[in-house]
Amino acid sequence: MGVFASTDDPGSTGHEQVVFCQDKQTGLRAIIGIYSTALGPALGGTRFYPYASEEAALADVLDLSRGMAYKNALAGLDLGGGKAVIWGDPEQIKGEALLRAYGRFVETLGGRYYTACDVGTYVTDMDVIARETRYVTGRSVEHGGAGDSSVLTAWGVFQGMRAAAEHVWGSPTLSGRRVGVAGLGKVGKYLVGHLIADGAEVVATDLNPKALEWVRANHPQVELVEDASALVAADIDVYAPCALGGALNDDTVPALRARVVTGAANNQLAHPGIEKLLADRGILYAPDYVVNAGGVIQVADEIEGFNFDRAKLRATRIYDTTREILRLADDDGVPPAVAADRLAERRMAEIGRLRSIRLR
Ligand SMILES: NC(=O)c1ccc[n+]([C@@H]2O[C@H](COP(=O)([O-])OP(=O)(O)OC[C@H]3O[C@@H](n4cnc5c(N)ncnc54)[C@H](O)[C@@H]3O)[C@@H](O)[C@H]2O)c1
Repeated sequence: MGVFASTDDPGSTGHEQVVFCQDKQTGLRAIIGIYSTALGPALGGTRFYPYASEEAALADVLDLSRGMAYKNALAGLDLGGGKAVIWGDPEQIKGEALLRAYGRFVETLGGRYYTACDVGTYVTDMDVIARETRYVTGRSVEHGGAGDSSVLTAWGVFQGMRAAAEHVWGSPTLSGRRVGVAGLGKVGKYLVGHLIADGAEVVATDLNPKALEWVRANHPQVELVEDASALVAADIDVYAPCALGGALNDDTVPALRARVVTGAANNQLAHPGIEKLLADRGILYAPDYVVNAGGVIQVADEIEGFNFDRAKLRATRIYDTTREILRLADDDGVPPAVAADRLAERRMAEIGRLRSIRLR
């Protein structure tokens, strides 16, 4: 085992701890970022990605771990925020020894950090990592895991969308609304099912012909459009970005005809000024990290011993949280993204403070 070091200045980014891990034999170079443990152990996935540089890997883990603290806080979890990155091409270097070396580093944190899947890591990888550490979620069903997290991610997005619909049109349903879904992947497919069951008309698009085929076969009533630009310009009431980040940018927001944006994609706002642009155009944006928390709720449930019904109940509460955020945003005269951040910070401060009450 190689280097194990913490940066001496995590305070400059507000992080509690940043740990660099290296194992030369397997080629493992990982960084674990713990933003906050105010609410409990930090939970967040491991991204395995061929970053251009160590600086790029570090910047990503700092950003992602902070995001997880806010997401977990608003999901009502007793978990803080963390994330890890493994720097390298998973196609080239991922293997049993590397994953187990990584698992041993996670174990050394003694439960301050729980890992899970992210871009480049899968349920089967978590099963391998779990051979070295207890602090891993997102495992396979045969190992007591929650399985595919997109099930409750889609359910949570649907709940957030219901709250947004109620805020704008007075009733928590998408019945009779036209909803545009961009991205018919793992989450988008489930979301389309919930929308149709609720009585919505669905317009959708995907780059992948297989995804389009799936929709034609399973939901022939869905109208398919050529690409995301066509969807943005379409006559829709709700836009649901369910593909990649940056869906809301300087080109799409001015062209958008929907009154509401609620989708699963992470980092939908291309830059911080976009939330104001949305607000100026009278478009209600339900923050991505609030409505897409169903996945983390699902994997977090494994820590207690996975129970789908309990996790689903928690994901259903995304409806209440979204409602509260939209109300707060109106009361404070700020965009919902700002209101969400404030609510998350309040929970971290209020509940985190309780630890100062000595138990013995
Ligand atoms: N899966 C989860 O539990 C989960 C949890 C939280 C957030 N998210 C986020 O939700 C989004 C979707 O996740 P997923 O698991 O369904 O991913 P996925 O890879 O299964 O699906 C993404 C789909 O989007 C399509 N796509 C990509 N670019 C597109 C474009 N420009 N136009 C139209 N379609 C495009 C892809 O072909 C694919 O079918 C991602 O941003 C992900 O980070 C997922």
